[in-house]
Amino acid sequence: MASIVSIAQNKSDALSQALTCLGEGKPIAIPTETVYGLAADATNPAAITAIYETKGRPSFNPLICHMADVQMAKLHAEFDDISLMLATHFWPGAMTLVLPLRPKSDIHKLATAGLSSVGIRVPKGFTAELIAQFGKPLAAPSANLSGKISPTTVQHVARDLGQSIDLILDGGACEHGVESTIIKIENGKAHLLRPGSIAAQDIENVIKQKLIRAGADSEIEAPGMLTSHYAPNTNLQLNVTRIEAGDVLIKFGNQPVDGEQDAAQIFNLSPAGHLKEAAHHLFDMLIKADQLTPNKIAVCAIPYEGLGEAINDRLKRAAAPKGQDNL
Ligand code: TXA
Ligand code: MG
Repeated sequence: MASIVSIAQNKSDALSQALTCLGEGKPIAIPTETVYGLAADATNPAAITAIYETKGRPSFNPLICHMADVQMAKLHAEFDDISLMLATHFWPGAMTLVLPLRPKSDIHKLATAGLSSVGIRVPKGFTAELIAQFGKPLAAPSANLSGKISPTTVQHVARDLGQSIDLILDGGACEHGVESTIIKIENGKAHLLRPGSIAAQDIENVIKQKLIRAGADSEIEAPGMLTSHYAPNTNLQLNVTRIEAGDVLIKFGNQPVDGEQDAAQIFNLSPAGHLKEAAHHLFDMLIKADQLTPNKIAVCAIPYEGLGEAINDRLKRAAAPKGQDNL
């Protein structure tokens, strides 16, 4: 059974228990500004294997390696002008860069799934401090069972992994609530591999070029971006304007929805229609709606602009038929 240690209440205890576990090659749950991560020493093959086993994740799906700062990141990845501009602007923060792996890096190939690139990110606050003290990058996927919804609170982590890890660091509810935006830089061009907590437009404004988005029929470039990934057990129906009796309704904004008086329950991602607030609540409300085991979860339309791209991406995956692609 995992012990849950509050960072706000007991920072030095949190730090020392975390360092002990990490030193022993044990994965621990850590808060980040996006979602909770399941972190372990990125240079230790046994520790990385333990991450894949704990999550039930296929080992061909590479892990993001978290760094204390840009200096540490430069030891492991090759930066060019664009990636340096992005790193300087958005780190610490909710952006992951996929860059060429440096031959000298001691990140183990199990963490990168043997690719010649590495996904890296510098998180904010306590987690960056922890990495600096540990002195090595931490490989960390989201701290959920593979195929389940990413955790944004300690309760979500405990439900999926409480029985299988020793330590969960409690940093409260995650600020953003959806995962980092993943950008791959290759030959001077920036590709959007996964929309996330930082709007694509904000990234384009910094690099002054359009992000290249994968077409519907293009090769999957982030191996984890398979269709059915963020899966509740209940079927989801998107862009609804009316619901059937007994549905759980997830609304956005304050417009009434036809039939809502007969909903089993109504959640509202943001009554005022703010996308940032909606992103923050998204996974928690999906999990709570799913726990009510209705016939279906009906979700109102969310605008596509800004953070709406990431929210719609996660909803589309949550609504996709579950099956062999479910990582
Ligand atoms: O916000 C986040 O990004 C959270 C926190 C914990 O940092 N992490 C997270 O990790 O969402 P995960 O493992 O759930 O998703 C990472 C995604 C996967 O789709 C993986 O395939 C992709 O990043 N990825 C990692 N390294 C890559 C690489 N070298 N090339 C392409 N895609 C990569
Ligand atoms: Mg994940």
